[in-house]
Amino acid sequence: MAAFPRTLLALTLLLWSGLVSGLTSTLQQVTNFGTNPTNVGMFVYKPTTVTAKPAVIIAIHYCTGTAQAYFTGSPYAQLADTNGFIVIYPSSPNSGTCWDVSSKATLTHNGGGDSNGIASMVSYAIATYGADPTRIFVTGSSSGAMMTNVLCATYPELFRAATVYSGVAAGCFVSNFGGVDAWNSSCAEGQVSATSAQWTSVVRAMFPGYTGGYPPIQRVQEYHGTIDTTLLPENLGEEIKEWAGIFGYNAAAPTQVLQNTPLSGYTKSIYGPNLQGILATNVGHTVPIQGNEDLKWFGIIPGGAGGTPAGGAPAGPTSSTTTVASTTTSSAPTGPTGCVSAEFGQCGGSGWTGCKLCATGTTCQELNACE
Ligand SMILES: *[C@@H]1O[C@H](CO)[C@@H](O)[C@H](O)[C@H]1NC(C)=O
Repeated sequence: MAAFPRTLLALTLLLWSGLVSGLTSTLQQVTNFGTNPTNVGMFVYKPTTVTAKPAVIIAIHYCTGTAQAYFTGSPYAQLADTNGFIVIYPSSPNSGTCWDVSSKATLTHNGGGDSNGIASMVSYAIATYGADPTRIFVTGSSSGAMMTNVLCATYPELFRAATVYSGVAAGCFVSNFGGVDAWNSSCAEGQVSATSAQWTSVVRAMFPGYTGGYPPIQRVQEYHGTIDTTLLPENLGEEIKEWAGIFGYNAAAPTQVLQNTPLSGYTKSIYGPNLQGILATNVGHTVPIQGNEDLKWFGIIPGGAGGTPAGGAPAGPTSSTTTVASTTTSSAPTGPTGCVSAEFGQCGGSGWTGCKLCATGTTCQELNACE
């Protein structure tokens, strides 16, 4: 059994504080939904009224969480009522309710691990609810975020888009000892670094013989907080390198960097139409779920897909979408006196009025972050 940091418990409490009320339907457990070697639980929220060929969002909980906790603590059920899609909340079968993202089985297409059971839920939803196979999306927080990346890597043919809240690259949290649901400190602490080419090989090895190409995954969006001490923010860079490699983008050269997007203090880097990284300044391991942004990214509501901040009003209170050069080399920073940004904290950029000095040992680099 893995050891679970206490910080993950705090995450549970925060997410539980959001109560769901006034829904049109209830959360239902589904059994016998197909191949499910590790006995993953399947819970479904299907609004009273759904659209023809409804979209499906697979929403995956964090360690210590449950399907019920993510149902009440995330915005997807309410958004499903408004927009007529279905939400599936998988429930982890593992002690401590982290997801197995470490074993060879789960890191292999149809390999018999937790990922296999979740993939079966997608087939079930298409067959049983008439869900649109071209509008199946996946998202999750923390351990669920890790699983989101793993599902995109192991089942690229199933998922059209993903949003990842505080995860690690697929294949980063491996256990060299074959452990199921193992904790991997070196990955968590941001000590695992690979090139885009290396990560691409890791991903492709999870579905050997797959010739369909990865364009079936239309879009991957990765959020991470700059002061996350559970899964260090270096992991965002590895996730970006991984998917940039798959999509053929340059992880070192975003095509666009949007400050204060989608929220004040968040920096969105766009690497191409299929990949965005969002660094949340001074946010810890719990990056608040941006439900409306997710729906835009998935294409369920207009605006946002492909990085165009067009369409409906962005969810954030401030959304100046200033485009800055991808390689902003800052000159001597001038900002509020004595105000220092932590490592990976924002330190500049067009319109930035916060701290412009970097913590000792770091300098203000591209993406206007202290590195
Ligand atoms: C943790 O994962 C990395 C790959 O990301 C691997 O090199 C390392 O051996 C793993 N640690 C353990 C204890 O398995």
